[in-house]
Amino acid sequence: MAELKGEARASYVAAMFARIARTYDLMNTVMTGGQHHRWRSQAARLASVGLEGPALDIGTGTGDFAFALAKRPGIERVIGIDFVPEMVAVATRKVKRRKLHRPVEFFNGDALALPFPDNSFVCATSGFSLRNVIDLPGAIGEMARVVRPGGRVVSLEITPLERNGPFARLFRLYFHRLTPLIGGLLARYREAYTYLPRSVDLFPTADKLAAIMERAGLQNVTYKKIGLGTVAIHVGSKR
Ligand SMILES: C[S@@+](CC[C@H](N)C(=O)[O-])C[C@H]1O[C@@H](n2cnc3c(N)ncnc32)[C@H](O)[C@@H]1O
Repeated sequence: MAELKGEARASYVAAMFARIARTYDLMNTVMTGGQHHRWRSQAARLASVGLEGPALDIGTGTGDFAFALAKRPGIERVIGIDFVPEMVAVATRKVKRRKLHRPVEFFNGDALALPFPDNSFVCATSGFSLRNVIDLPGAIGEMARVVRPGGRVVSLEITPLERNGPFARLFRLYFHRLTPLIGGLLARYREAYTYLPRSVDLFPTADKLAAIMERAGLQNVTYKKIGLGTVAIHVGSKR
């Protein structure tokens, strides 16, 4: 459950993503009406514009953010890492099926202890994964560490709705009631899609996430909300 802490939470999250790896893409498409591809392209553009070199995507899952980065001019190669081998296997199978613009490789690895030297990448991105790590400042610190000076750290994440108007109430109904039902039907795992809205409720607001990025040493941290305010793209630069 989203309320679990520390290693117990990490084990729960890993087991859950292992179980939904094969239906993950279908669920994303159904839940977002296909918008998730556009959101990752937008975040990949913000991560890479004006930069040249390799990119890293953490919590890469089935790899779609890494593939969006590989389409960007200036990005020479992309590495995606995830701590769930079943996710890495799905992403790696996609590499063989796709006509890729640049090399993309996937590895098993922990976002909290990235297996790369300092200053290795021009950007480090996360798509919907920071909500799942047990140490958010630690994960952002690791992303900042492996990015070169002048590079960027980018998060694309579902963000808690801060106003309690009619749209927020409708979205809550959709997210907390309908999403678990769809997850039960398509992924055959309702609990994973009960965890999802709860994990968003527990995630920092967009302003608070920006402050955490700044405390990790990132500069000029900005964010924009998309998807009717339900998703935020945060961008910070390394000095
Ligand atoms: C919601 S999925 C996001 C997948 C993908 N980034 C996307 O844009 O759809 C979250 C992913 O983060 C991974 N993850 C969670 N904690 C992690 C950690 N500490 N290290 C590496 N991957 C992690 C999970 O295994 C899962 O594949």
